Amino acid sequence: MDCVKLVFFMLYTFLGQLVFSLSLPHLCPEDQALALLQFKNMFPINPNASDYCFEFTEFHSYPKTLTWNRSTDCCSWDGVHCDKMTGQVIELNLTCSGLQGKFHSNCSLFQLSNLKSLDLSYNNFSGSLISSKFGEFSSLTHLDLSVSSFSGQIPSEISYLTNLNVLRITTVDPYGLRAGLHNFELLLKNLTQLRERKLDSVNISSTIPLNFSSCLTVLSLPYTQLRGVLPERVFHLSNLEFLHLSSNPQLTVRFPTTTWKSSASLMKLYLYDVNFTGRIPESFSHLTSLHELDMGYTNLSGPIPKPLWNLTHIEILYLDTNHLEGTISQFSIFEKLKTLSLGNNNFDGRLEFISFNRSWMQLELLELSSNSLTGPIPSNVSGLRNLQSLYLSSNYLNGTIPSWIFSLPSLEALDLSNNTFSGKIQEFKSKTLYIVTLKENKLEGPIPKSLLNQQFLLLLLLSHNNISGDISSAICNLKTLLLLDLKSNNLEGTIPQCLGEMSTVQILDLSNNGLSGTINPTFTIENQFNIIKLNDNKLQGKVPSSLINCEKLEFLDLSNNELNDTFPKWLGELPHLQILKLRSNKFYGPIRTDNLFAQIRVIDLSSNGFSGDLPVNLFQNFQAMKKNGENSGTPKYVADIYSYYYENSLIVTTKGLDHELPRVLTTQIIINLSGNRFEGCIPNIIGDLVGLRTLNLSHNVLEGHIPESLQHLSVLESLDLSCNKIGGEISQQFVSLTSLEVLNLSHNQLVGCIPKGNQFNTFENNSYQGNDGLRGLPPSRDCGRDDRVPQKTIPVELDQEEEDSPMISWQAVLMGYGCGLVIGLSVIYIMWSTQYPTWFSRMDLKLEHKISTIMKRHKKRY
Ligand SMILES: *[C@@H]1O[C@H](CO)[C@@H](O)[C@H](O)[C@H]1NC(C)=O
Ligand SMILES: *[C@@H]1O[C@H](CO)[C@@H](O)[C@H](O)[C@H]1NC(C)=O
Ligand SMILES: *[C@@H]1O[C@H](CO)[C@@H](O)[C@H](O)[C@H]1NC(C)=O
Ligand SMILES: *[C@@H]1O[C@H](CO)[C@@H](O)[C@H](O)[C@H]1NC(C)=O
Ligand SMILES: *[C@@H]1O[C@H](CO)[C@@H](O)[C@H](O)[C@H]1NC(C)=O
Ligand SMILES: *[C@@H]1O[C@H](CO)[C@@H](O)[C@H](O)[C@H]1NC(C)=O
Ligand SMILES: *[C@@H]1O[C@H](CO)[C@@H](O)[C@H](O)[C@H]1NC(C)=O
Ligand SMILES: *[C@@H]1O[C@H](CO)[C@@H](O)[C@H](O)[C@H]1NC(C)=O
Ligand SMILES: *[C@@H]1O[C@H](CO)[C@@H](O)[C@H](O)[C@H]1NC(C)=O
Ligand SMILES: *[C@@H]1O[C@H](CO)[C@@H](O)[C@H](O)[C@H]1NC(C)=O
Ligand SMILES: *[C@@H]1O[C@H](CO)[C@@H](O)[C@H](O)[C@H]1NC(C)=O
Repeated sequence: MDCVKLVFFMLYTFLGQLVFSLSLPHLCPEDQALALLQFKNMFPINPNASDYCFEFTEFHSYPKTLTWNRSTDCCSWDGVHCDKMTGQVIELNLTCSGLQGKFHSNCSLFQLSNLKSLDLSYNNFSGSLISSKFGEFSSLTHLDLSVSSFSGQIPSEISYLTNLNVLRITTVDPYGLRAGLHNFELLLKNLTQLRERKLDSVNISSTIPLNFSSCLTVLSLPYTQLRGVLPERVFHLSNLEFLHLSSNPQLTVRFPTTTWKSSASLMKLYLYDVNFTGRIPESFSHLTSLHELDMGYTNLSGPIPKPLWNLTHIEILYLDTNHLEGTISQFSIFEKLKTLSLGNNNFDGRLEFISFNRSWMQLELLELSSNSLTGPIPSNVSGLRNLQSLYLSSNYLNGTIPSWIFSLPSLEALDLSNNTFSGKIQEFKSKTLYIVTLKENKLEGPIPKSLLNQQFLLLLLLSHNNISGDISSAICNLKTLLLLDLKSNNLEGTIPQCLGEMSTVQILDLSNNGLSGTINPTFTIENQFNIIKLNDNKLQGKVPSSLINCEKLEFLDLSNNELNDTFPKWLGELPHLQILKLRSNKFYGPIRTDNLFAQIRVIDLSSNGFSGDLPVNLFQNFQAMKKNGENSGTPKYVADIYSYYYENSLIVTTKGLDHELPRVLTTQIIINLSGNRFEGCIPNIIGDLVGLRTLNLSHNVLEGHIPESLQHLSVLESLDLSCNKIGGEISQQFVSLTSLEVLNLSHNQLVGCIPKGNQFNTFENNSYQGNDGLRGLPPSRDCGRDDRVPQKTIPVELDQEEEDSPMISWQAVLMGYGCGLVIGLSVIYIMWSTQYPTWFSRMDLKLEHKISTIMKRHKKRY
């Protein structure tokens, strides 16, 4: 009986449903379906249009509009929701849908006048303004136009949307959107229902007005050029959960000393790089819900402010880039930490606390770089099993690297560089390493095999250690590697041939090892090599002709080897080659070339056996040197990629001494042909290379006169023509060389008077000695009277006793250098596109996203 009842019941329900669905017409009004279809046709799908989707949201993009068609009810379409009663479309969610096209104000979407929620984020409406028509969606409670390449001014009409609860208009294009003072005020004042306001990276450039919605739960305005003082009222919003004002250096923030109204609700507080003033008051200890705090780069100094110790539930804590001091052992009281970033402070003491019992089981990121921590890393650590990123660089840590680090199962990034760790690098257990940098330590032994077996390794830096053995050809298994830096170790053997086939590597630095044999790698086409440094080894033979396949090469250094070849003039066909160093090899023969070398800025062929006339054709082709690139605006550097990790240094020789420039300004223009057997005259054409800062033709057998044209080298800082057979007089015109700081004309056959005036009044005897016919300044001879008492000059080895005058503008070199490890802001892309402009533009798009996703994970703040 029961059974019959049940069957009957089921049948009844089934029939009921059938009748219901049959009798119901399509919910969606025809005009709205049409409007949506029209919209679909206006915006073709391009998967690239949602490239930022996964990176920021971790959702995969998918083309929702693709399935929209007339045969189905529009209310059932992906991303479309209708009111159950009226059938009107009230919600449209097209986030991450790969839409690309221009969003005009005649767009059919504006016909959906009943919309309550509209999400168009993560598409590409590049070139579109935000139409004032958005202000006509009077029922809208939720509007999201984030990261969809809208540009221009946010229209004031948005402030008509007085029912808005959530407004998100963030952008990754720095300041691609503007709010304008007036509009921003309107947006704050009129939108009284607003709970969430996210305008990340919109150029607001104004103060925050006093009156705004008291319902706010989210106020997110990072990187918006806010100014003035943050109204204290913000801290008294009783529902505030998330306050994000990072990267507004002109916004002055002071905490209230009284109890905050938001103290029970506030969960996330991000204040990286604001003008924080005052102290962290006692009232801070009442923020019992706070589990994420960023006060990096806020000028905090002294010991950790006491109220912070009350935040025992904190999970994410950034206090990096301040002047905090003391030991860090107390941090173990924060047992729930997932991220702890204390880098760039003055913390000292030992790391012993990390071995305390089983604490920090959740910790994923530990960042203590650039402090003054000492002693070894404890070996008996049982917590930290979930550590993914460990940054301890630039401290005074020593001892061996303990095994527990090598056996971390999920390790992704390890930076222990610039300490004094010793012993061997053990095999890694993790199979997911992305970044390994152990450079500048005292590590020894071979490169562990497990490092050559990684599927995702991007950066491998082991330079400046005592690593020995061969470079195994297994290294070519690293299919994602971007940077390989093994500089200054004791590596021996030959360079594996397959290195030239690595299709992702951009920086290859094997310099200063004991590598021998010929340069084996066969560079295949479509490689990415940008920097190749094989200098200071024992390499022999010829320059491999396959280098011609390195189309992206900017910097080639083969100095200080035993290469025996004629001038590899074909390198001139490399369109981006800017620095070529062949110094101290056995190159020989005359240089005759019509090849281009159009971008070359630094050419160093010194100490070889080149002969014949100076290469006039070569000079003629140096197009980049013909521009007087005075430092204008922000300094630009040659091959400036991954500059946080890799120092693309250049050794320049002035006055017989080597200086290492940590980065190479594009205005650093140098010709060094010294120490060869060049003969004949100095060609006039050198005077056309008006960007030259250093010209060294010393120790050749040049003769003739110093060409007058050299007077045009207005930024020339160093001129060395010593030890040749140059005769004639020194033209008085040369006093116009007002940038000249180093002059060496010694040991030639110059005659006549030394010019007077400007820089020439500063040069000493040794600039001129060994020219018996020279008279005038310096004071040891006087040009007025013709009393030629021949004075014996003692030959001096390249002016060694002279004090080094800094010919390089060190300030300029250092500008922008040394940026912190943790680059601020959730919108990491912005930081990259501003701090690492060339880096970014150079990256292959897919790779760019891969690395940025990874870097975001490791370096992002939240
Ligand atoms: C998407 O981007 C890739 C890589 O940049 C490019 O090769 C491809 O043509 C793009 N696709 C479209 C449809 O634009
Ligand atoms: C967005 O679209 C514009 C042109 O419509 C195009 O130039 C740009 O490359 C696109 N961006 C992406 C990430 O696809
Ligand atoms: C229309 O959409 C439905 C559901 O998405 C799909 O099954 C059907 O194949 C589509 N028809 C056409 C003609 O695209
Ligand atoms: C749109 O959908 C995504 C997930 O698909 C969701 O995270 C987001 O909150 C939705 N937007 C709105 C406004 O509901
Ligand atoms: C919408 O406006 C744009 C530019 O104003 C125009 O090019 C386009 O044809 C218009 N589209 C429709 C459907 O009217
Ligand atoms: C505020 O919103 C109301 C209601 O939509 C509108 O009438 C008014 O113009 C808006 N005020 C301002 C200053 O924009
Ligand atoms: C930072 O705040 C102080 C006062 O607390 C003020 O004197 C200073 O001008 C502010 N700096 C900036 C850049 O706004
Ligand atoms: C903060 O911690 C101190 C010391 O543990 C304690 O005395 C004080 O009551 C705590 N304050 C709050 C508000 O919990
Ligand atoms: C190496 O660490 C020392 C000590 O912390 C620091 O002074 C120095 O600047 C660091 N060097 C580099 C290249 O970061
Ligand atoms: C490590 O450095 C400390 C000084 O900070 C020193 O006392 C100790 O001997 C060093 N240990 C090793 C193994 O070098
Ligand atoms: C360079 O190589 C040639 C043979 O290819 C040899 O005759 C010559 O001696 C070598 N030069 C030097 C300086 O080793």
